[in-house]
Amino acid sequence: MNGPFRQGSTAMAQDEWMPVFANLQFNFGYPWWLSYGQLPLVLIAAAFLALGYWRKWSKRAMVVWAIVLVWSAGALLVTRFVLDINGVPALPAESFFRSGTGRVLDLGAGTGRSSIMVLKARPQSTLVALDLFGSSFDEHFGPGESPQERLLQNLKAAGVAQRVTIQTADMRKIPFDAGSFDAVVSAYAVDHLDGQGIRQTMAETARVIKPGGDFLLILIGKEPWGIFAFGPLLMHGGPRPPAWWSARLEEAGFQVLEQGTRPVTVYFLARRR
Ligand SMILES: C[S@@+](CC[C@H](N)C(=O)[O-])C[C@H]1O[C@@H](n2cnc3c(N)ncnc32)[C@H](O)[C@@H]1O
Repeated sequence: MNGPFRQGSTAMAQDEWMPVFANLQFNFGYPWWLSYGQLPLVLIAAAFLALGYWRKWSKRAMVVWAIVLVWSAGALLVTRFVLDINGVPALPAESFFRSGTGRVLDLGAGTGRSSIMVLKARPQSTLVALDLFGSSFDEHFGPGESPQERLLQNLKAAGVAQRVTIQTADMRKIPFDAGSFDAVVSAYAVDHLDGQGIRQTMAETARVIKPGGDFLLILIGKEPWGIFAFGPLLMHGGPRPPAWWSARLEEAGFQVLEQGTRPVTVYFLARRR
């Protein structure tokens, strides 16, 4: 690896050679049911099938439990290998911040998943990981040691901590001067705000990003993989369709260059006019 940070090289080597165990160096703190929620159902369905076979249950009962087993096992595999909520995702938009040199702001950085995604994809960049680290953080990641410390541990595990500044702040009132950033990313965070908060955040993002800078907005999306694995549990983002988000970006002074989906995700790549 030619990256400047040796710790990260170790993490990458593990990712490359042991994909099943990849990401064990991170603790992003998402709740257990997002990673293994279907496992109890797999065990229950398998137990009932075994019991039914032994007690000679009706064919109909056996078919029902077989369907439950197939769905829950499939959803478990999709959750682990397609959604990979406790892993570091790839950048959804390849052309985001293509120059790769400069300063990036991550709005709602949480435990670092989106920050690490950008820092690994753009090894010449530095990043400010901004989060309120308040009740919303606790709701997502549960109580534990200081939120900032949890974020720092993951940044260290990825070998990128030297390139990151952690900032405790509200994304609706970003404490940086106009034009301070070459690019901004925000993943699964802006969609936690109400309509007014979203408009404020978009306006603040447009203020702190340089003209021509990229904004990668990543939101929870109700696409087929997520619906298969979680069904109605994925109620994030409310009823707002992608067109509503595009309109907010355009209104704030961005041009939407690309829009797409990834598992459980809808994303927008927008450029500051
Ligand atoms: C689901 S987490 C996403 C974390 C990370 N971006 C990721 O991809 O895993 C949402 C984060 O947004 C943060 N957040 C919510 N409202 C915020 C606000 N007004 N200002 C800053 N951060 C906020 C929460 O504290 C939480 O860490």
